[in-house]
Parts: sequence; C-alpha cells; structure tokens
Amino acid sequence: MSLYAIELLSAAHNRVGFSSGLESVDRYFREIARGHLEKGVSITRVIVEADACDPKPVLGYFTLSGIVVDAKPWSGAPKGLPSQAIPAVLLGRLAVATEYQGKGIGAILVATASQLAHETITRTGGIGLVVDAAHDQAALYYARFGFKPVSAGSLRLFLPAKSLEGGAVIPRG
Ligand SMILES: CC(C)(COP(=O)(O)OP(=O)(O)OC[C@H]1O[C@@H](n2cnc3c(N)ncnc32)[C@H](O)[C@@H]1OP(=O)(O)O)[C@@H](O)C(=O)NCCC(=O)NCCS
Repeated sequence: MSLYAIELLSAAHNRVGFSSGLESVDRYFREIARGHLEKGVSITRVIVEADACDPKPVLGYFTLSGIVVDAKPWSGAPKGLPSQAIPAVLLGRLAVATEYQGKGIGAILVATASQLAHETITRTGGIGLVVDAAHDQAALYYARFGFKPVSAGSLRLFLPAKSLEGGAVIPRG
C-alpha cells in the first residue's frame, strides 16, 4: 500500500521532472510556484510518497491563495452581501503527474484544499472556495465535488463556505 504525504513545496521536491500533460500548470509549477510561495503570493502544496528521498518525485500539487470577489449573483453565496469586495479562498491550480492520474490523487488534493479553505475561512472570514478550471473538462471534474460555475459557461466555479463545514469534500458518483 502506498502512503502519501502532503508537504509545502520546497527545495526537497523535484519540480523539473513534473509533468501533468497540461503545459500551463506544469510551467507554473516548475518556474513560478516556489517564488510565489516565498513572496506570499500563494501557497503550493505537493503530494509525495511518504518514504521518498530528496529530490522527492512530485505526484501532484495544488495552489491556494486569498482572493476578493463580487459574489452577489453566485449560486450558494450568502444573500445581502455588502457592496464591497468579499474575501474567499482561491484554488488556483491543481495537477497530477501523468503516470498517477486516475488513482484518486486529484480527489485527495481537492479534499485537502477544501479542509484548508475551511480552516482559513473559520479564522479570517470568507464566503467559500473558488476554483479557476483550466478547461471545460477540468470544470466537469470540479463539478463532481459540488462546485458550480459562477455564471453559465464560466471556468470559474464556487463552493460556498457552508458546503465546507462537514469536512473535506469528496466527489459524487
Ligand atoms: C484533472 C486532474 C487533476 C484529475 O486528477 P486525477 O488524480 O487524475 O483524478 P482522480 O483520480 O481524482 O479522479 C479520476 C476521475 O476523474 C475523471 N477525470 C480525470 N481527469 C479529468 C479531467 N481532466 N476532466 C474531467 N474528468 C477527469 C476521470 O475520468 C475519473 O473518473 P472515474 O472516477 O469516473 O473513473 C488530473 O487529471 C490532471 O492533472 N490533469 C492535467 C492537468 C489539468 O487538466 N488540471 C486541471 C485543473 S485546473
């Protein structure tokens, strides 16, 4: 049985060798994610085999950051929001290495991200978890966890804070 660990991205991880098959998320991970983490722009976490040795092969990653949104028309957003930018948590990127796709690792990462978003929201406020899907199929993937497009056909999807209260989100069906 494989045991996994979720860690903050660091020099211990092999960024260069990571490939999910989607160039935009791969380039972000290889070239930008660590700098953003060091500067406080966003936080990237990776999933690795628990007994991996440095440089640890990365099975997948996700990136969280704060975001402010105008959420009034969004499905599940609270009614009567003030007329100002409202805080939320953004799951900006998610990817699993090609050879590990389809084994539930993406689901583990979304579940972990949702738990972290819940913790953040309970401490500092926020109306929920926002994702920016990289393409239509990715939007369908997020929909399995309960995310809904913020408007018809949008690649930005939203999961309200109340949906995070029951613990990590898991895919339906
Ligand atoms: C999308 C992605 C993160 C899913 O991770 P994963 O570990 O492969 O997915 P899981 O094992 O948790 O789930 C597998 C299920 O999701 C479906 N699925 C996987 N990738 C999908 C995609 N891109 N679109 C829609 N459905 C997808 C599979 O068909 C499978 O369905 P099944 O359970 O009915 O067989 C991964 O395929 C990936 O990294 N793709 C390339 C990068 C990318 O497109 N990122 C998009 C996020 S912005």
